[in-house]
Amino acid sequence: MKILIINGPNLNLLGKREPTIYGNTTFVDYFAKLQLNFKNVELSYYQSNIEGELISKIQEVGFSYDGIVLNAAAYTHTSIGIGDAIKAIETPVVEVHISNTFGREEFRHQSYISPVAKGIILGFGLQSYDLAIQSFLATK
Ligand code: DQA
Repeated sequence: MKILIINGPNLNLLGKREPTIYGNTTFVDYFAKLQLNFKNVELSYYQSNIEGELISKIQEVGFSYDGIVLNAAAYTHTSIGIGDAIKAIETPVVEVHISNTFGREEFRHQSYISPVAKGIILGFGLQSYDLAIQSFLATK
């Protein structure tokens, strides 16, 4: 099984960005643990701060991979383009968020990803990614 994790803007700063919300662990360190937890999954990881690059990556893997775990970060709440890209591809997408976006500001309650995602996992810290991968394994 081939799964790509895609992280959107500012998630390259995990570990030092608002640690009370997002924790102290860098994604690079967490990704190494994920690879150990899922030895039978071909896991890869991509991050960009640029909306069009995220769309290009979704298109690139969207007809060959088994799953995409997508944390579009702030673009979740604004990007019709990312929503359209998910609609255009065949690979199922699980939306993830580190924080519980519904417990935060009103503008974070809107998602252009949720209506077109296979499912949504949010609010479990970095463990949200772990659970998203598990969800693909449980439903393949
Ligand atoms: C986030 C939540 C978004 O509202 C925010 O813009 C992020 C991170 C999360 O993982 O909790 O950058 O996607």
